[in-house]
Amino acid sequence: MNRIRQFPILGAALAQGLAAIVSLGLAVILAGRMPPLALVFVVLAVQVGLAMAVTWRLRLPVWWLWIAALFPLALALVLNLGSLPAWPFGLAFLMIYLFFSNTARERVPLYLSNRQTAETMLGLMRERKAKTFIDLGCGFGGVVRAVAGEDRQAYGVETAPMTFLIAWLLSRLARRGTIMRQDIWATDLSRMDVTYAFLSPEPMAQLYAKAKAEMAPGSLLVSNSFAVPDVEPSEIWELSDRRKTQLFLYAMTGP
Ligand SMILES: C[S@@+](CC[C@H](N)C(=O)[O-])C[C@H]1O[C@@H](n2cnc3c(N)ncnc32)[C@H](O)[C@@H]1O
Repeated sequence: MNRIRQFPILGAALAQGLAAIVSLGLAVILAGRMPPLALVFVVLAVQVGLAMAVTWRLRLPVWWLWIAALFPLALALVLNLGSLPAWPFGLAFLMIYLFFSNTARERVPLYLSNRQTAETMLGLMRERKAKTFIDLGCGFGGVVRAVAGEDRQAYGVETAPMTFLIAWLLSRLARRGTIMRQDIWATDLSRMDVTYAFLSPEPMAQLYAKAKAEMAPGSLLVSNSFAVPDVEPSEIWELSDRRKTQLFLYAMTGP
């Protein structure tokens, strides 16, 4: 289960695999007993429904439910590729780049902290009377907007073009927080009381080294879901949300 939490793509593959066994079995049983179009519809509906149910049962983040639903439909489209125009695929590719450009480059996909996590971060800032906060790789900026307040400065940095644009616009409209199109690794953390990240297992060792080198003693690094390898966290908070979000807290002691 922990492995699936760290690599949700394993859970997504399991969900599609289990659903495929049932839906293909059903296709064999029903073949010839109903019109072909109705058969395709039933098989697709079973595949999508089961894949979503398994994804839900595995407590994967909500956006994996969308993947579970869209994957069989995308596959059906690709199998009919020859008879379809090419431009929708070009457009889909562009959209994927604009939102997910960091997935291949940094091995960090786009998934978002839920409301409970954002509220927990706000509570943590209040409890510590912390004044400065940054979300490294802020996605659509939800946590930044939740934490920002009159007596607290909240920043977010993001490099995926469309994701940044949406975060920047939402932040401007709400007048909460400051969103910058900036790389995590070029961001100075020395003024931050709390640095928050929800990335992937891949950059955690490098991120901890950066935080340790730059953040002042007494400040805090918080990682959503992904622990720093071989470093004991100061605290682990488990939230009572559906996915039982774990927050790993690392108290900074200076370089
Ligand atoms: C898993 S999402 C988390 C979004 C947000 N922090 C939240 O909790 O809702 C990670 C984000 O980090 C961004 N990201 C990954 N590597 C980055 C980098 N080197 N510089 C800036 N942003 C990066 C991705 O584009 C993605 O939007």
